[in-house]
Amino acid sequence: MSGWGGGYITDITYMAGWYRQQSPAMMAIAALLGNVNAGIPAPDDAISYLELGCGQGYGAMLLAASNPKWTVTAIDFNPAHIAEARAWAAEAGLTNIRFLEADLSTLADEAQAATIPEADFVSLHGLWTWVPPAVQAGVVKLLAAKVRPGGVVHISYNVLPGWGPAMGMQRLLREGGNRLAFRSDQQVERAVTLAKDLLAAGAPQFTQSPLTRHLLDRMHTMPVSYLAHEYMNASWKPCFHSEVAAALSAAKLDWVASSQLPENFGSLMFTPEQQEILNRFDDPIMRELIKDTCVDRLLRHDVFVRGARRLSPVARNDALMDVSISLNINPADMPAEADFPVGKADLNAAFYGPIAQALTHGPRKVGDLLEIPELVGSRDNPAEMIGILIGLDLAEPAIRRDAAPGEQARAFNRVAAKNYLGTTGLSRGVGLASHRLGGGTMATVLDLMIMTHAMNGETDIDTLAGYVNAPPEQAEKVREIVRISVEDKQPRLRAAGVW
Ligand SMILES: C[S@@+](CC[C@H](N)C(=O)[O-])C[C@H]1O[C@@H](n2cnc3c(N)ncnc32)[C@H](O)[C@@H]1O
Repeated sequence: MSGWGGGYITDITYMAGWYRQQSPAMMAIAALLGNVNAGIPAPDDAISYLELGCGQGYGAMLLAASNPKWTVTAIDFNPAHIAEARAWAAEAGLTNIRFLEADLSTLADEAQAATIPEADFVSLHGLWTWVPPAVQAGVVKLLAAKVRPGGVVHISYNVLPGWGPAMGMQRLLREGGNRLAFRSDQQVERAVTLAKDLLAAGAPQFTQSPLTRHLLDRMHTMPVSYLAHEYMNASWKPCFHSEVAAALSAAKLDWVASSQLPENFGSLMFTPEQQEILNRFDDPIMRELIKDTCVDRLLRHDVFVRGARRLSPVARNDALMDVSISLNINPADMPAEADFPVGKADLNAAFYGPIAQALTHGPRKVGDLLEIPELVGSRDNPAEMIGILIGLDLAEPAIRRDAAPGEQARAFNRVAAKNYLGTTGLSRGVGLASHRLGGGTMATVLDLMIMTHAMNGETDIDTLAGYVNAPPEQAEKVREIVRISVEDKQPRLRAAGVW
């Protein structure tokens, strides 16, 4: 590992990816669910978006491509990330994004900080608990200087107490890996073998921790670049929500909600007994500690606002009624139930079925969906509809519901197709840019391949299946996944305005 990273790995690049929690529309919807007005971007708003620790910048580019009037600034200290991101952005012809190579521990005090515009929305995904305290302090200083009053910040981090039982495993991976190999990818691979060997040899700290066993079990399914950036950093330290809230308060940021939308609904998170205990407190930070004690997850996605403007229930409902949503699934595939921390919940087919049908051809406003004749009077809760449909990845927010597919988004998706096809498995998920959504929607690399042909008018399933490089014995299977993409997924991508 080279010396300039301050303990953060710099010899292996992080994989490019889209994470929907980074989308301003998602952040603003989460804030609304927390009763705070953060202003969902309007179609023609000239939003200023900032990402700190952007990696290869895929998410920032996707947002720039989807929203030509936005100004996007993305920062990372690894020159390999910035060089890759700049090359991709240039190839896609993006002119509204700027990548800055800078160290967040000192950037706020450097001259180039003056060139960063005041931000309406900021995202820090996968940074906070992986970097040393000096970088966290630099981040807070930059947020204090650059988040506009009323601006919104998304931050994800590894959380305690969830991570507690597996902290020893991370230490073993890091210390063992450092001594077993030179490069971070080889370090993590050899360290995983070491940890699995210890598990097999009956080491009680591993055998008696279901979390450690679970993490070790699924490691072979993870890309090595993810594992290296997740486990091989010297300063990795999961933390309590209250610690993040205290640190960000120095930038006048208040915690308002989770951008994992179902987490904003107590009825989906807590049993009645847990809810009774929660209700002893009205301090939101204490309530989050109880949530982190009751909910089994390792990563939090929080939304903070600089100057939280609280909304009345009526104003909040009005704002939620105004949100437009686009369906991610075939309406016939609307699930009948879903898993939440509290258990399985019925999704009420009589309510969600007609809504899914109404979304078949494109996004609709939540308020209009609640006016569908067979639904009038049955439920009038826009928060629940958004929490369920967007929260369960069944739908995406759409900030320009009637917009045509944007040329800039299509150019970005074409570059995604060129860069992913042939270099990664066809089942890998990728985010595609959409001007209509103002953000991304997920598809597989296979869907992306079919899309590029379908855009040229090629839709015959057998012809398209012929483009997939697979052994003859898999021909039937290939034909079936191609059929599903043509008949189910492509209409979804069209409805979302991707093409
Ligand atoms: C886990 S990656 C997340 C990348 C991106 N946000 C994503 O989700 O794909 C964390 C990123 O933070 C960057 N980083 C770490 N320390 C940094 C520092 N001191 N200054 C700037 N960037 C830093 C790393 O280079 C890496 O790209």
